[in-house]
Amino acid sequence: RQCSVTNNGFLPEDEPLPRLRVPRDYYYFWEALVDRIPNLIQQKAFRDWVDRLLPVRSTRYLKTEPEWRRAYVVLSFLAHAYIWGDDTPAEVLPPQITVPFLEVSRHLGLPPVATYASLNLWNFRTTNGSKDFTDLDSIHAVNTFTGTEDESWFYMVSVAIEAEGARIIPVMLEALDGIEQQEYLSITNALSQLADCIHKLTGLLDRMKERCDPSVFYHRIRPFLAGSKNMAAAGLPRGVFYDEGNGKGQWRELRGGSNGQSTLIQFLDLVLGVEHKADGNSNPDQPATTAERQEKKEMGYLEEVRAYMPEPHRKFLQRVSESYPGGMRRGVAKLVPGERPLTEEQLDLREAFQKATKALADLRSKHLQIVAKYILIPSGRSRPDMDGKINLATVSSKTNTSMVVEGEPPRKLTGTGGTALMPFLRQSRDETIRAGRLE
Ligand code: HEM
Ligand code: ALA
Repeated sequence: RQCSVTNNGFLPEDEPLPRLRVPRDYYYFWEALVDRIPNLIQQKAFRDWVDRLLPVRSTRYLKTEPEWRRAYVVLSFLAHAYIWGDDTPAEVLPPQITVPFLEVSRHLGLPPVATYASLNLWNFRTTNGSKDFTDLDSIHAVNTFTGTEDESWFYMVSVAIEAEGARIIPVMLEALDGIEQQEYLSITNALSQLADCIHKLTGLLDRMKERCDPSVFYHRIRPFLAGSKNMAAAGLPRGVFYDEGNGKGQWRELRGGSNGQSTLIQFLDLVLGVEHKADGNSNPDQPATTAERQEKKEMGYLEEVRAYMPEPHRKFLQRVSESYPGGMRRGVAKLVPGERPLTEEQLDLREAFQKATKALADLRSKHLQIVAKYILIPSGRSRPDMDGKINLATVSSKTNTSMVVEGEPPRKLTGTGGTALMPFLRQSRDETIRAGRLE
């Protein structure tokens, strides 16, 4: 059951490979170009370099899993730098990137786009050789689009969160096993460890402000994280054409990178039994009534982005949700005073459950504050009537973009993952609060 989880949770056991080293330095051009992304983008020369100099490389020299992952990181950066690294986005991704990117993505069970795995999970190095990846002072991003400390910090906060959260995974799996046997004391203990752990995650999240400047994030970093789905207004009405050469290829529309793809946070939801419903905010360009959505069994954003997690992580979540449907909440909600009042132990368990759930809701509230500071304010949409509701109703669905160009009429604001951000994130937080209500 735990086979896809390392001692570092969803991070690799060891530091990711920082560079592909294979015989005759076969992947030299990939590594050389990915290193130079910040410079070449500044000179608006990146696309030209790829078009003129990058050879098509086969994936045949990739042998170990760390090598496949490194290739995925490199190709994700090359692809997004190619698409977003000039005045207008590129609608066609050339075969030098497309062909190996499709093969590597297939191997890893991931979509060919920058994901939480390529930007965060597999894109860090330590400066002291320590295996403690929670120490933000000793981890750095291997690759960035901008070469800024802000961008590295933005990715590393998530790495530290994943590493901190890793410690609670085995504790909670054991506690879930104990619920049938009514091992109240040990479950209560596990839940209070969980609340402590989530508080630490929130503390790490709050450190975003230390070295990631909101305006650098919004104007310089964020545009590179965008995907190709719902990106008409940004210049990709049909998504991106993945050119495989020889007349072959395909238009694809994929969601951009987002921490919504974190397996850890979705695991915490499953453990506690937090339910997230689709409500249209995850796909703001396709509004539908609740009834229509239920009939179509529309997937919510969080369910949809499981397809953007590495395959073993996706399978892990699947197994957890099948083995423990309803999570802790299902067991705890059964403890209601009936003919006999609840025992001390049972009352403690209920309280510990509510505290852990509240901790997760508080993490989501802190995250909402961060989104206001890093997206709403720099976009000029900080007025409460500008964060989704009014825009949704008044702005045509063709004007959806995650980037706002100064001087243009207000457009609907979306996350890089393509959600209607504030309404979506608020809903997710409120669903967490609701899980804590047991009556
Ligand atoms: C989702 C923004 C950092 C965890 C989202 C979404 C946005 C967003 C806009 C909605 C999905 C989308 O359309 O992209 C930001 C910004 C950040 C930041 C601006 C920092 C500057 C983080 C970090 C974490 C995180 C460090 C780690 C815990 C999540 C999760 C979701 C999410 C779990 C899915 C929604 C949910 O589960 O409630 N984020 N995020 N975010 N983010 Fe962040
Ligand atoms: N998902 C985050 C955003 O929309 C990164 O900016």
